[in-house]
Amino acid sequence: MSEERIKGNDYLSQAEIDQFNVEGYLIFDGFFDRDLNKRLKEDVDQLMINRANKGETTLMALPALGPLTSEPTVVDRVADLMRTTFTHHHIHARWQGKGESGVSWHHDYEQVPQTNRSHLMVHVFIYLDGLNGEIGDLLVLPKSHQRVMARDAYRQFMYEDLLGSVTIDNLSPGSFVVVHSALQHARRPKPGGETFRRYFIDTSYCQHGILWPASRRLWQLNQMALDLGWDRDGKYAFLYDNSCFFDPHDYMEQFNIQNQGSLAVRLMAETDSTS
Ligand SMILES: [Fe+2]
Repeated sequence: MSEERIKGNDYLSQAEIDQFNVEGYLIFDGFFDRDLNKRLKEDVDQLMINRANKGETTLMALPALGPLTSEPTVVDRVADLMRTTFTHHHIHARWQGKGESGVSWHHDYEQVPQTNRSHLMVHVFIYLDGLNGEIGDLLVLPKSHQRVMARDAYRQFMYEDLLGSVTIDNLSPGSFVVVHSALQHARRPKPGGETFRRYFIDTSYCQHGILWPASRRLWQLNQMALDLGWDRDGKYAFLYDNSCFFDPHDYMEQFNIQNQGSLAVRLMAETDSTS
């Protein structure tokens, strides 16, 4: 899928767009209305029950979580960052309670191998009951998306503070944080959670114009979204276009053979054979 320029929605100011490009994230505090928030929590609660009972666990099929992938409150702001068409990559959801373990520093930019940041991928971290310093804090390392590195480059630091890192532990219900997917982030485990549950959803979007790695299951889910009408009468059909994905498993053997030595040598050989 080649990227198509789209008209921005102007929900984001140029200062916010610049801030995102420099820092790698933007916080939207309390942006979901109460009804949407309530319906999403009901879906997450049902999902957790279903997981425990081996019931329906396909998020795309659920009445609030499915259409969340095209929720205008989110995707219209993502569009202001992309300025081109883009495709939904995944949705995950759960609540986290007392004793939840942490997640070490990492980033989630899908690229094999990690070589450049020419096209934008974002993750949207949604906190239905906000963050209050219990169970888990979100840590981000501003500007880290600007340097190309392996996803686990900082893993040894677990969820310790890093020089310049920011701890996000105070958000209103219905908040979301849009992060550049290459931004290093972590979840620091915290005590608490006896009564408070940390409702967490993450969705992700990939800019059109290149091929992104994704499993074939995603292709089925995006088709399901179209079948269920989550494209909102076609307005957001571009979100479920699978033509910007490839399954990396199809290419790993060939990749491992090709991904050795000097790219320059290969480029020179190509130039020689064509000149
Ligand atoms: Fe992550």
